[in-house]
Order: sequence, then structure tokens, then C-alpha cells
Amino acid sequence: MKIAVLVSGNGSNLQAIIDSVESKYLKDVELEIVLADRKCYATTRAEEHGVKHLTLSRKDDAMFDIIDNETAECNLIVLAGFLSIVPSEFCKKHEKKIINLHPALLPKYGGVGMYGDKVHRAVLANNEKETGATVHYVTEGVDEGEVILQASFPLTKSDTIDSIKERLHGVEHQLIVEAIKQISKENV
Ligand code: GRF
Repeated sequence: MKIAVLVSGNGSNLQAIIDSVESKYLKDVELEIVLADRKCYATTRAEEHGVKHLTLSRKDDAMFDIIDNETAECNLIVLAGFLSIVPSEFCKKHEKKIINLHPALLPKYGGVGMYGDKVHRAVLANNEKETGATVHYVTEGVDEGEVILQASFPLTKSDTIDSIKERLHGVEHQLIVEAIKQISKENV
């Protein structure tokens, strides 16, 4: 199965994918290309591992046309910390071919504007007993597509945005790899 990974930031989840492809844990997966919608550290990770990468501009109206062309050979498009909203035409064209990693237990704490620290701030404000991460299919409705995998962890009264983020990262790195593995088995 050929995959493309779309990124906007640090790319620690991309790194988990790269490591799992290199170690052959994801044995049926080829990482074809990394596409960024802005300059970011994630593309440096791709460069260091010899993975083809391209930095685009989210201000370019043709960005998703370029993404469409560049991913034409891919069976799966993975949004791993990709911050641009995917246009509905693109979602419709690639139904069940795009997955996203979200830093909360959807359907809670999803939708437009629910990203980064805002998610964790809302989780803390509501005194949630747990939080976690979700991998889901991308559809026209933001964060509304079918859930593929979720993982949760408990919260305590002393938790902060930073302490949540620290634990979340470990959970996300495993979850995104497991979701790709699961889909790759379905694609054999
Ligand atoms: C992750 O928390 C993910 O859930 C969210 O963006 C963050 C990306 O982190 N969508 P990284 O760039 O993979 O380190």
C-alpha cells in the first residue's frame, strides 16, 4: 500500500510512521511522499530519511490540485498534524482514502476551531476524567467521519495542557501506526 503523509508542524507522528516503515513493522506500506502546507520541521525529518517531500503554500488556491496530482499513485492519504481544512470536493473524490489524527476522543472536542491547545483547554475546563486520540476517515464535515481507532488515558486534577500533550504524543504515535497497519491489511 502506498501512502502520502500531509503535515504542518513538528512531524513527530510522521516520524513514528517513518520509523515503523523502516523497521518493517508496517511491512506492506511504502511512504511515497510527504506534503507540507507551510515550512515546517516535518519536511526536515522526511529529508533526513530520504523520503520525497514538497513544501506547498496554504495560500495557494491550487494547493489541493497539487496534492491531488502528487498523491495520484497513493492508496491512502494520512493527515498527521495537517492544519489546512480539506475542501469538500477533495473529500468526496477520495472517500475512505483520507484519514486524520485528532487529539481528542471524538465525537467530543471536534469540529471547526478545535485544534491544538484549544482541545486540551476545553477538556480541562469540563473536568473530563479521560482524554485521548482518534484516527478517523475524513469526510466533508470537519472531524465527523467514521472512527477507525481510538485510545484513551485517564486525567487527574493536577493535569495541565502540557502534561496532557506529553502523554498524548506517545498515545498518538502508536495509534496512527496501528490505524495504517489495519488499513494496509485490508488493502492486501
Ligand atoms: C497532533 O497532536 C495531532 O493530533 C494534531 O496535530 C498534532 C501533530 O503533532 N492533529 P506532530 O506534528 O505530529 O508532532
